[in-house]
Amino acid sequence: MKNLYLIGFMGAGKSSVAAALGQMLEREVMEMDECIVRREGMTIPEIFAQKGEAYFRQCETALLRECAGWEPLVVSCGGGVPMREENVEAMRSCGTVILLTARPEVILDRVKDDHSRPLLEGHKDASYIAELMEKRRPKYETAADLTVDTSCLTIQEVCHEIISKLN
Ligand code: S3P
Repeated sequence: MKNLYLIGFMGAGKSSVAAALGQMLEREVMEMDECIVRREGMTIPEIFAQKGEAYFRQCETALLRECAGWEPLVVSCGGGVPMREENVEAMRSCGTVILLTARPEVILDRVKDDHSRPLLEGHKDASYIAELMEKRRPKYETAADLTVDTSCLTIQEVCHEIISKLN
């Protein structure tokens, strides 16, 4: 029983899908952002502002290494996790990596009223999102064992598609 890692851009649906998938598969869910916020006693915008993005990325790598030993989890990864090669190695060594995608317009709609993502503050437009997604796409695709486009699917449908692709 390997860990299931959900990766993808902010707003791709990782957290909602992880929660539903955890219920369906009767597995514990680990939400990386929430775990880091709890450990640090600060919100993500506070961590970025007071300690810097590099510190946040170290927290992510440390947590991923730790959770490799906590199988079998469903892990909802922060959107930047696959940007580091060592993170991808950690995930692939003990799990299956599932990439969730969505069209930039769909992402924008999902994130527009949320202020917890420092990288999108002041950039809530589809062209910025499309550009950043495109920059990240090669790393996301290299990391992934399987991909599901969530743009037109309900959370339940995404879970069913993941489960059928895993089998
Ligand atoms: C980030 C995504 C966020 C969070 C942080 C950085 C990123 O997580 O980890 O704001 O670099 O894409 P979500 O993908 O869960 O929004």
